[in-house]
Amino acid sequence: MAEADLTMPVIAVIGAKGGVGKTTVAANLCTTLAQAGHRVLAVDLDPQNALRFHLALDRDACEIGLAGVLAGAASWTQAMQPARGGVVLLPFGFIDDEAQIALERHLADEPDWLARTLARFQLPPDTLVVLDTPPGPSVYLQQALRVAQLAITTLLPDAGSFATLPLIDRMVDKYCLPRADFMASVYVVNQADAGRRLNRDVLQTLREALGDRLLGVVHQDQAVSEALASAVDVRRYAPHSQAAEDFEQCARQLLRRLHPPMPFAETRRP
Ligand SMILES: Nc1ncnc2c1ncn2[C@@H]1O[C@H](COP(=O)(O)OP(=O)(O)OP(=O)(O)O)[C@@H](O)[C@H]1O
Ligand SMILES: [Mg+2]
Repeated sequence: MAEADLTMPVIAVIGAKGGVGKTTVAANLCTTLAQAGHRVLAVDLDPQNALRFHLALDRDACEIGLAGVLAGAASWTQAMQPARGGVVLLPFGFIDDEAQIALERHLADEPDWLARTLARFQLPPDTLVVLDTPPGPSVYLQQALRVAQLAITTLLPDAGSFATLPLIDRMVDKYCLPRADFMASVYVVNQADAGRRLNRDVLQTLREALGDRLLGVVHQDQAVSEALASAVDVRRYAPHSQAAEDFEQCARQLLRRLHPPMPFAETRRP
């Protein structure tokens, strides 16, 4: 259980499988929440250091990151980066394999490292902290789940993703449910494609299985990969795209699920 009592909502974007859209969902939730009037800190807990591709204004400035601070090479102020749409990004940083092994050992020895670190930042209590995590069980996922108040599992509408649900549920049960400040475990189905029958059928099964734990559905949309290639968020790249609309619905639902709920300030799309 986390020792540090965090006053700001911490949202962990998690998933059992690789490539299902965790980073895409985390990044676009961050920019949508920021546009809806919220202060957002995005923390990349994945050694791929990929959140910067979606959010960083200066990707090269993301080399230090939290790994650099942990290695004693920089301060938190040097690691934090101003990012798209007013989001603040704490990248993972670049480290070699030996340093990564040492870092992971440290995180295993200090299970509340993230909770204590976030508490040390003394963020305003209305700051939304969004964590991106690597796929499957890891020390990074453990750290994230030990501090998250909302866990968002991202999955594809396919049989493989459906089969992995118990794995993530077990992790959430272990690290989140025992904490009094834990709010909810919810799901985002990503890359839904109404044109594909199997995809449609699995989505329907997921809707029935998850009920109100389904936070939202993000459709397969070319605007997502085009926005990434153009180094902008989907909402800015294609404000009226299906994916921008889907991310907005997910952000609205997310804010409603917080205790107390937070408002979604209506702004004109860019
Ligand atoms: N809704 C979508 N429509 C179209 N393409 C998408 C969508 N969501 C994600 N993608 C694409 O799928 C790929 C994988 O997405 P992403 O990197 O976010 O997955 P991930 O779960 O974070 O992967 P990893 O497990 O490696 O961290 C990317 O190329 C991304 O652009
Ligand atoms: Mg990722």
